[in-house]
Amino acid sequence: MRPIVAALFWGLAFVAPYAQGTATPTAGDLPAVLREPVDKNPDPRILDIDLEARVTSVEFAPGERIDAWTYNGLLPGPLIRAHVGDRLIVHFTNSLPQPTTVHWHGLRVPANMDGVPEHSQAEVPPGGRFVYDFILPDAGLFWYHPHVQSAAQAGFGLYGALLVEDASDRLPFPERVLVLSDIAIDKPGVFESPDSGGSAGMAFGREGNRLLVNGRERPTFTARAGAPERWRVVNAAKSRYFNLDIGSPFLTIGVDGGLQEYPTKSETLVLAPGERADVIVTPPGAPGTSLVVRALLFDRGYGSIEARIPFDDLFTIRLSEAPAATVAPLPELHRSIEALPVAQATRVSLDLTITQRSDQVFEYGINGVAFAKGHWLHADPGETQIWTLTNKTKWSHPFHLHGFFFQVLDEHEQPVHPLAWKDTVSVPYERTVKVIVRFDTDRPGMWMFHCHVLDHADGGLMGMIEVGGHAHDAASEHKP
Ligand code: C2O
Ligand code: CU
Repeated sequence: MRPIVAALFWGLAFVAPYAQGTATPTAGDLPAVLREPVDKNPDPRILDIDLEARVTSVEFAPGERIDAWTYNGLLPGPLIRAHVGDRLIVHFTNSLPQPTTVHWHGLRVPANMDGVPEHSQAEVPPGGRFVYDFILPDAGLFWYHPHVQSAAQAGFGLYGALLVEDASDRLPFPERVLVLSDIAIDKPGVFESPDSGGSAGMAFGREGNRLLVNGRERPTFTARAGAPERWRVVNAAKSRYFNLDIGSPFLTIGVDGGLQEYPTKSETLVLAPGERADVIVTPPGAPGTSLVVRALLFDRGYGSIEARIPFDDLFTIRLSEAPAATVAPLPELHRSIEALPVAQATRVSLDLTITQRSDQVFEYGINGVAFAKGHWLHADPGETQIWTLTNKTKWSHPFHLHGFFFQVLDEHEQPVHPLAWKDTVSVPYERTVKVIVRFDTDRPGMWMFHCHVLDHADGGLMGMIEVGGHAHDAASEHKP
């Protein structure tokens, strides 16, 4: 780690007794630890699991239940934990009343394992099965969710974390995987309709009204005063941006596709839907006290901050009575990442647009064309492209590309440091973001890109790129 970063981080970690002692943990705290699935294969390099999508009553707050859409009866789904290079086999069964698929967000899988109906696999009908089988090529925190009626299905609870570990980046700190999400409850025990608010609700991107951490509202975790922890965090909410505040700095060591070039420090941690962070944080406070981790209001565009409370309490950290830990220096956390060369890259312009079709009907699109009428982009295997993403709307869009990582460039097409591999990047409202991506030679096929505010995706903000195959005459390509 750069000494300056270390100095800043360790200097600040022990001041700011923020919100200390103000938390009153609920007596009926529910356990918020993620469960792991049973591995049916004795080979240590093969993880072979069953995954069943089914409706199950879950208790998400003390005494409050909902019939959630779950994987294996759990909200969120089981934490799949493997090692980089392992083979993952998932025997998937759909016991939902609707067709579904599983998409492995951020994983560089073959196209036919990517879970996109029509382009990578057929929908799995109610009662149907599908076997996902692929190698895990990259270390990092990934996640899985459906790719059929995504806003509704993920909104009802279908998501889970997938942690791919690498022995070379282990740290001597306790580690937590935190799945952040929200659900929209109408009256007790009943989900709000996924199309509430009609086209205007879609244009905004519907947020849930109950915030969950590992499937529980305001859970409590226990930590030791002064002891750093490593948090692997994913934002699995369908529209909400999370802006975490713990009253002590976050040291980000990695993002979507594993460790970044070098650590960076920030006062809060912002995660757009779909994004992940790998952070080191030292919960501030004295032994025996508690603190509340808050989600601060985040401006993701029109209507997102007006008349809303400035923060929500997300979870409580109770510091044990054990004497404060004395902290050893952090190990070096560098990763050498090569900047993708911009010189020969093909330039592609993608405007993120919204069009009013009639009085109350809005349609999102790319270059003014909604997905259902879209034409597909093309890349040759091995080709590098620079995508200029221009947000012409009043809402921010977390832009996600399936199957490939990209790097973020600045407006002059220079790499943004620290270099990092991303699969989801927020394109703030009325702003432009440039990314550079190299399409691997060994994974031809149809790959999707879309906004990860799932209502926006369903509302038309999606597209496809064909890697390999023949070059398309874009104007004549129509989705049936
Ligand atoms: Cu989480 Cu199409 O993606
Ligand atoms: Cu969007």
